[in-house]
Amino acid sequence: MDHKNYEIDELISAKSIAARVESLAKEITSFYSDTEKLIVVGLLRGSFVFIADLARELDLPLEIDFLEASSYGNSMKSSREVRILKDLRGEISGRDVLVVEDIVDTGYTLHHVLGLLKSKKPKRIEACALLDKPSRREINIKSRWVGFEIPDEFVVGYGIDYAQRNRNLSHIGKVRFK
Ligand code: IMP
Ligand code: MG
Repeated sequence: MDHKNYEIDELISAKSIAARVESLAKEITSFYSDTEKLIVVGLLRGSFVFIADLARELDLPLEIDFLEASSYGNSMKSSREVRILKDLRGEISGRDVLVVEDIVDTGYTLHHVLGLLKSKKPKRIEACALLDKPSRREINIKSRWVGFEIPDEFVVGYGIDYAQRNRNLSHIGKVRFK
């Protein structure tokens, strides 16, 4: 039996997410329209639902790869230190790359990951984040594409967790403690 001390209030409906994913995919498809092959890199684990939906809307030849960087652990606070827990399987040097992230919060994760991947000399590399919390930024980094800007709330659903839970919600909700 689960005893949770919080409720989840809907912030972004599944329908709005689907509409936004479709329009992001159109922009990304046109940006990389001349690509030989796009390497879509999902940051585990929070981006797994987003990448599945986004990839199916991209009208481009592509490969999917994954990278796992340490972030919150089981807490609600970000750590400024980012470690790579699982590296890419494929090569990205000379390739077109799209990094897919769930949320840009302080910005440390995306900053670190983009720095690391850029050192492998891709042809082009850009990021697409489902959510952005600009008011939380501690380091100057911007994702080229953002699904939704949100206020400083802790959110779950559509792949995003709180202590590994609620990733399977179809919408995005904010956590409210009881
Ligand atoms: P950053 O390094 O502070 O930008 O943190 C980015 C990572 O923190 C994201 O990839 C998420 O995994 C996690 N994160 C940030 N905000 C939230 C949230 O509201 N809910 C769940 N995870 C979050
Ligand atoms: Mg993450």
